[in-house]
Amino acid sequence: MVQEVQTPKKAGTTLVDVKGLKVHFPIKGGLLGRTVGHVKAVDGVDLFVRRGETLGLVGESGCGKSTTGRAILQLIKPTAGTVKLDGVELTTLSTGAIRRTRANMQMVFQDPFSSLDPRYTIGQIISEPLENFKRGNAKEIQEHVANLMETVGLNPFYVNRFAHEFSGGQRQRIGIARALALNPSFIVADEPVSALDVSIQAQVLNLLQDLQGKLGLTYLFVAHNLSVVKHISDRVAVMYLGRIVELADSADLYKTPLHPYTQALLSAIPVPDPDVELHRKRIILEGDVPSPVNPPSGCNFHPRCWKAQAICREQIPVLEPKGAGDSHHYAACHFPG
Ligand SMILES: Nc1ncnc2c1ncn2[C@@H]1O[C@H](COP(=O)(O)OP(=O)(O)OP(=O)(O)O)[C@@H](O)[C@H]1O
Ligand code: SF4
Ligand SMILES: [Mg+2]
Repeated sequence: MVQEVQTPKKAGTTLVDVKGLKVHFPIKGGLLGRTVGHVKAVDGVDLFVRRGETLGLVGESGCGKSTTGRAILQLIKPTAGTVKLDGVELTTLSTGAIRRTRANMQMVFQDPFSSLDPRYTIGQIISEPLENFKRGNAKEIQEHVANLMETVGLNPFYVNRFAHEFSGGQRQRIGIARALALNPSFIVADEPVSALDVSIQAQVLNLLQDLQGKLGLTYLFVAHNLSVVKHISDRVAVMYLGRIVELADSADLYKTPLHPYTQALLSAIPVPDPDVELHRKRIILEGDVPSPVNPPSGCNFHPRCWKAQAICREQIPVLEPKGAGDSHHYAACHFPG
């Protein structure tokens, strides 16, 4: 039985707190297979997610979004930094303790075609975590699976069908049911709709939002693009080359972006009003995203930033409140606004 919780959606306390998170993948080279460098996929990420909210995590391909999500869930061992879930530091836990904690934090993957093994039935896929964690006898697990299928809008009648017999949207529902099986409080949804037909995307997004309301879930919702997360995120974090450059309430971020990179991303989104669209100023970013193997010094956005000054090449800007008043609008920029 999926437990419904009565906590108000915006209880406001921090559930996930990430500080200085780094994931540097070693690059092996030469005959001896020595480490010759590192891919700095995540290079000092600070963020927090409040209980019951959706934090959108947005950035271009390769900026480190998936690696951040995996490192928070301890699916990848962080190189440095701290990750607290409900006040418990995860990075120093033993393997056994992380395994137990994993029941409380789950991932929904981008591609429902490759993330579900086609040789297994839906029942086997959804019941696997319940069996691993010994959540009941065979009959109880069977009931639980049927209940989970109903929760995500799948008919339990199909429990013995194979994943490959289902459409993309239905497969993503199976992935969501599996993620919910152990009653987690925190879910990293890594581009959960980007592999689906546009017509199906809204249905899966609505399902995720309904489940959040019913079950009191907290989401880190990863997306490529600011327009995807606009309607579902309470707050949005913008990522560039391994770091968070801006973090704010959605309304603030879309209305008054403070970091030049966010301004450039927003300027690329078409506006429905033809008059506004006609006069919309687009910021065209020069050059490509630099390699995470050898990122630029200081603010790593400086080679592409039209506001860059000498200090930008020398000092890494700290992610700190930069908005008006006692704002919770954070930006990592020496010259925000
Ligand atoms: N296991 C790994 N070993 C080495 N490099 C990796 C590994 N996983 C990811 N990377 C590199 O780390 C960087 C960040 O990758 P990541 O998948 O986190 O980005 P992303 O923002 O999720 O991109 P996308 O939007 O394409 O999914 C990329 O340069 C990627 O090539
Ligand atoms: S710190 Fe400097 S280079 Fe970086 S975004 Fe701000 S103005 Fe641009
Ligand atoms: Mg990714």
